[in-house]
Amino acid sequence: MKLCMIGTGYVGLVSGVCFSDLGNDVICVDHDKKKVEKLKRGIIPIYEPGLEELVLKNYTNKRLKFSTDLKDSISNSDIIFICVGTPSKKNGNGADLSQIYNVAKEIRGSISKFKIIITKSTVPVTTGDEIEKIISQKVSKKLFSVVSNPEFLREGEAIRDFIYPDRVIIGTMDKKSNNVLKNLYSPLISKGTKYVNTSRRAAELIKYASNAFLATKITFINELANLCEKIDVNIEDISIGMGLDKRIGGRFLRAGPAYGGSCFPKDTKAIINTADKFKTNLSVIKSVIKSNDNRSSLLLKRVFNILNGNVKNKKICFLGVTFKANTDDMRDSASLSMIPSLVKKGAIVNYFDPTGEKYDLKKLKNVNFSKNINSAIRDANLIIIHTEWNDFKSINFKKEVKSKNFIIFDMRNIYSHTKMKELKIKYFGVGH
Ligand code: UGA
Repeated sequence: MKLCMIGTGYVGLVSGVCFSDLGNDVICVDHDKKKVEKLKRGIIPIYEPGLEELVLKNYTNKRLKFSTDLKDSISNSDIIFICVGTPSKKNGNGADLSQIYNVAKEIRGSISKFKIIITKSTVPVTTGDEIEKIISQKVSKKLFSVVSNPEFLREGEAIRDFIYPDRVIIGTMDKKSNNVLKNLYSPLISKGTKYVNTSRRAAELIKYASNAFLATKITFINELANLCEKIDVNIEDISIGMGLDKRIGGRFLRAGPAYGGSCFPKDTKAIINTADKFKTNLSVIKSVIKSNDNRSSLLLKRVFNILNGNVKNKKICFLGVTFKANTDDMRDSASLSMIPSLVKKGAIVNYFDPTGEKYDLKKLKNVNFSKNINSAIRDANLIIIHTEWNDFKSINFKKEVKSKNFIIFDMRNIYSHTKMKELKIKYFGVGH
């Protein structure tokens, strides 16, 4: 099939490359000329394991193309995926849909035969209705169909999540479009992926509801971790014990720092905004947002307690600063609020991240980037394991850390308490 992905950000690029790998002809179009030129030379703008290889493979075999010509790309495609950003509005109230609507206006100028127009970007309920309205001002409704097909890709696992999704959600009441899309996804369906056809509005809401539920699950276990710390119970036991109940499930029950990234913080706020518009109180999600906003200051308090209130001139090492492992993304990472607070109190922070030095931390006084793990931890009084990269999972702290009585605060619980006790290392985890 001939597909056009509008927007070569995370969603557009990963989905476009994977669709081409499934045998489709895909044009990824973006108005950013420099980005497109780089992509043509195999330079990938984001860090995503496996993506570069897949781009090179499909670009070389000519199933994947990159272009800045939107009109031409639309004319030459049957299915158009809108994959532009829907960031939070500057005033924090809901999603900024200006890019989506601008694209809808551009699309309507290039339709001369039937096109399926799909929103893959995360868009609030009724956005599809609005896109349909915009396009139908200039184009007959017989010539297009607007469908919602939300993505459920995790950064760092995006290719795997595309190829082996739990489900594909298609929001349309148009039988013809549904059949075409079922066919497009048939290589995944034949491997066991569930295909769910809903109304367009339902598909839009499924995306927000899923992210909000996952954020709730994490927040639930994070709050229980706070209780566990006070009653000498290990949160890991609770996660395992609860997670084995199939109605609950063990995934996304790992206690840690505040959840971050480009999706959960933005989407939880956006669903509240939608509910407000329809005069509905989503009180559970509201309290999840509040609890998560509080989490970094709670963990900072714990850092102060661990250091007996003595933070001034303490050398604190952060292992990993991104919002989670296997990504270079700093958006809404808990480290962005914790590190400045610690240096404000007089700490000296050294950090190492496998994806390199971070622009957001460069401007901070007394915050330094170390080129490797060993130099980052060497002189540390306190080592904070902030993300769960494999690189951090078997460090010989006894050998590498030179400071006396150093302490480890493992915010991802990747080490065993018992082993640390045997090694006589002062070790704290989250939730025990
Ligand atoms: C999330 C969803 O998981 C994807 O399904 C969705 O497609 C994506 O948002 C999106 O809307 O585009 P992502 O933001 O890449 O994906 O990252 P996650 O792996 O979901 O992690 C989000 C945050 O939750 C991270 O800060 C992570 O450290 C935290 N987390 C996750 C926990 O603290 N505990 C867990 O058990 C799981």
